[in-house]
Amino acid sequence: MLADKKILLCVTGGIAVYKAVVLVSKLSQAGAQVKVVMSRSAMQFVQPLSFQVMSRNDVYWDTFDEKESSVIAHIDLADWADLILVAPTTANFIGKLANGIADDMPSTILLAATAPVWIAPAMNVHMYEHPAVLRNIDRLYEDGYRFIEPSEGFLACGYVGKGRLEEPERIVELVDAYFNESRDLPLAGKKVVVTAGPTLERIDPVRYISNFSSGKMGYAMAQAAVEMGAETILISGPVSLESPKGVKLICIESAAEMLDAVLDYYQDADYVVKSAAVADYRPMTVHDQKMKKKDGTASIELERTTDILKTLGAQKTTQRLIGFAAETTDALTYGKGKLESKNLDWIIVNDVTDPNGGFGSDSNVVTLVSRDGVEHPFPAMEKKELAKQLLKAIVQEGKRSL
Ligand code: PMT
Repeated sequence: MLADKKILLCVTGGIAVYKAVVLVSKLSQAGAQVKVVMSRSAMQFVQPLSFQVMSRNDVYWDTFDEKESSVIAHIDLADWADLILVAPTTANFIGKLANGIADDMPSTILLAATAPVWIAPAMNVHMYEHPAVLRNIDRLYEDGYRFIEPSEGFLACGYVGKGRLEEPERIVELVDAYFNESRDLPLAGKKVVVTAGPTLERIDPVRYISNFSSGKMGYAMAQAAVEMGAETILISGPVSLESPKGVKLICIESAAEMLDAVLDYYQDADYVVKSAAVADYRPMTVHDQKMKKKDGTASIELERTTDILKTLGAQKTTQRLIGFAAETTDALTYGKGKLESKNLDWIIVNDVTDPNGGFGSDSNVVTLVSRDGVEHPFPAMEKKELAKQLLKAIVQEGKRSL
């Protein structure tokens, strides 16, 4: 599967180093050439010899130990790799990389690298949630690093939670998918922002206004974007879905929070896909205490939320804007109206009364309408498949109109 692919594995020091040995074995079995670089703390857990045997290559750990006089090892290794994996990646190493520190062989190589670098963290759940670690991860995302998020389960420290190094078999699958797709990755090098799910507008500490969006459509769009090679930021309202692998997930609650999060990423975005069902109104007053019931009717005064998509449309420079229109009547007419009034490039018109689609269902039926009025109807299909087909159509059409 990975014949002729050159993978440089940087191993940093945590108990999951033992899994890195299995990873080298699996990558080699899949046909990849693997070279291993270790931090000194990684060597406390597993001897370099294990990696040497598994990779059939020298193992590197000392920047000043130049094995070949004709080359400088850390530059040579950085240039050699088609892909660099850092697995496991410690909190310390994430901190060093986020701050450009090069004080050992793996960190020096990474500063010299031009190949894609994937980071697979492994650490205690509380370390992974520490604000400094999260800040450093955010910075690395911004610098273009890709993450293989840790999985949840029993951790060596005794805790149960997120922090386990992803299983070697899964990492090999991701690497394989990357090389397969990179032959035809239409969104490689692009940044895609996707919104998903409902927003929730508080009335008091126990009540809120929201809608029936499950987030399935938006999460499928984010997954399709990442599979097509995009750096993908998923801004999600409250849903009970697992984040697609490889996306940067930002959780928000209200329309106002979604607006702030989208604006944070808007300038650099190539595509913004607004699948979220954003509340159009919110209560004018949010009560600090639970509102007491009284005899007779009650009313809540509502005010408009900001139309996020319209705001983006007004500020648009090079970004491509894709809206969804959830309609219950005259879907195409209303959808086209939104395309125009919000200054969009495409609108995905979603008649949510269709029994094969809409809110909560695993499938959907939509019509993609482009700015010049071309309509492209998609029959009922799984949201995951639909998302791929929609993005492909958008990218192809976008290329033609550039
Ligand atoms: O989440 P699922 O259960 O999978 O359901 C999918 C879906 C039905 C939610 C999805 O396919 C869909 O249609 N999403 C758009 C829902 C919506 O809010 O449509 P709208 O017609 O009200 O809004 C039009 C566009 O403006 C949308 O892209 C919306 O994100 C955006 N908008 C709306 C209001 C607002 N204040 N700000 C916005 O950005």
